Amino acid sequence: MVETRKEPEKDKPADASRRSFLKVMMALGVGAVTIGVARGAIQNLIPQSVGVSSFPTLTLVNATTGAPIKTADLTVNNPAVVIFDYPLQNEPNFLLRLGDSSGNDVAISPYNVQVPATGGTFKSPGGVGPYKSVVSSSAVCQHLGCTPPSIHFYKPGTTIPLHPGHSGSNNTGFINCGCHGSTYDPYKGFSVVTGPTKSPLPNVILAWDSSSDTYTVNSMVGPTIFGHSDDLSGGNPLSSSSQADVTTISD
Ligand code: FES
Repeated sequence: MVETRKEPEKDKPADASRRSFLKVMMALGVGAVTIGVARGAIQNLIPQSVGVSSFPTLTLVNATTGAPIKTADLTVNNPAVVIFDYPLQNEPNFLLRLGDSSGNDVAISPYNVQVPATGGTFKSPGGVGPYKSVVSSSAVCQHLGCTPPSIHFYKPGTTIPLHPGHSGSNNTGFINCGCHGSTYDPYKGFSVVTGPTKSPLPNVILAWDSSSDTYTVNSMVGPTIFGHSDDLSGGNPLSSSSQADVTTISD
């Protein structure tokens, strides 16, 4: 007997469309999983931008002893670089007690600082402390982000290697960045003296408590910290919510 081979049935229209629908859904599922895995991998590579919601008020303390910084702890025209992180980790700021060429405190007045990059201005707060000589700014160069000791303060009368024109008696006390030579004037709100930077250093707002002779850091004013579109995001919060650790690094 010869077996008659039965031809497979042709898809009925309803079955065919159901099968197509399932294929599309499976493809979409695989695609979604792939995108999810890729996104997870990318998120693991890029640090989370946690930040903080507002500028914290922190007492400046000695990073080694934990004792609050007093005026006598700050050397006038200190040749060493004194810094503290604020408002986030790994965001160093200068802490300067400014003086004249004889080492006497200089009272720093509030100053209208020009921002060449934008044509705008901002009001620098001036100095605090018993002699109004203590000031602070970001220590991240506004040109391309070099940090101390590449960028640091040259006290009045000293040599600035990249700017011999501002050395010796022509150096009234400048911050200079050794990476490409940008120079800032901390006596005038950390304004731009020479490029290539087109932006002054962001000023840090300090307060001094005369009864306890202690210093707090409260906020910042001026351009945002180099590399950030917002001072409060793009990094991790500081480890303490009450104090900022002040450290000294040698040149
Ligand atoms: S990074 Fe400071 S001058 Fe270029």
